[in-house]
Amino acid sequence: MSKLNQLLSLAELSPATLNDLLNLALDVKQQPQKYTQALAGKSIALIFEKPSLRTRVSFDVGIYKLGGHSVYLDQQNGAMGKRETVADFGRNLACWTDAIVARVFSQQTLEQLAQASHKPVINALSDLYHPCQALADLLALKEHFGDLSQVHLAYVGDGNNVCHSLMIGAALSGMKMTVVTPQGFSPDAQVLLNVQKIAADTGAVLELSPHLSAAAGADAIYTDTWLSMGDKADPQQIERVFKPYQINTAVMQRLAVKYFMHCLPAHREHEVTSEVLDSDASLVLLQAENRMHAQNAVLISLFA
Ligand code: CP
Ligand code: NVA
Repeated sequence: MSKLNQLLSLAELSPATLNDLLNLALDVKQQPQKYTQALAGKSIALIFEKPSLRTRVSFDVGIYKLGGHSVYLDQQNGAMGKRETVADFGRNLACWTDAIVARVFSQQTLEQLAQASHKPVINALSDLYHPCQALADLLALKEHFGDLSQVHLAYVGDGNNVCHSLMIGAALSGMKMTVVTPQGFSPDAQVLLNVQKIAADTGAVLELSPHLSAAAGADAIYTDTWLSMGDKADPQQIERVFKPYQINTAVMQRLAVKYFMHCLPAHREHEVTSEVLDSDASLVLLQAENRMHAQNAVLISLFA
């Protein structure tokens, strides 16, 4: 098993390391009794600058199941760096804790924390990435379809943090991924370049389109909120631009796609209808459950 030093982005992983992590996550899920002491004596800080249900609870419960201890730091009323600098925050945390899990407004904050603390930092969502989510999603796809290199995933919506991490994960796994975004809401250009580089090595296929029809025939359609936390865009304007990209039963049928995915929280009757979200086609609770198993695989690999 490869040892991880941190997880700021999935782009830090090689295809083999990602594959090892997914296999470990599957083992953690199937045989949890093997790992009950994996974090014995370790304390892990959980810092959240933004709200969370799934990430906060899955880390807290997951660490407990691995025999470790978590300390939750509520920064939800403001970004780090106000009472003291992010570097000072990180240096102090390092005196007592063994790793830092952080949900932050800016990817730079994670880098500063990692640099100052010299402790492993795990990205629990930033403006640019949501690697733990993508790991859980890849695990769900692997459980459902087997060999990831044979899977075609379509992402429809905003070219955001969740989209970026899925693109990197898909590229590392040799998958086919179609990304459908409205004009002006494409994935970040730097992330895209990096994904194209990875895909050139792994044989992954990445398609970008503003047309929903490009998602036709995919194994699953994935969507996320049209307005991410911290995004200051005008909600009415966003609603107008994204409305044609709503995933509903008619769209699923027209595109002949069987499965639906969403990182949650979902905004019912906006990016997805309740009819699709609550249908048998929906993998969302499998994705949510897998957050804990995937993250536990990451934590085990940090201290392996
Ligand atoms: N999917 C996800 O990260 O959910 P939370 O924002 O509730 O943590
Ligand atoms: N893109 C969303 C994901 C929430 C889990 C956000 O950043 O708010």
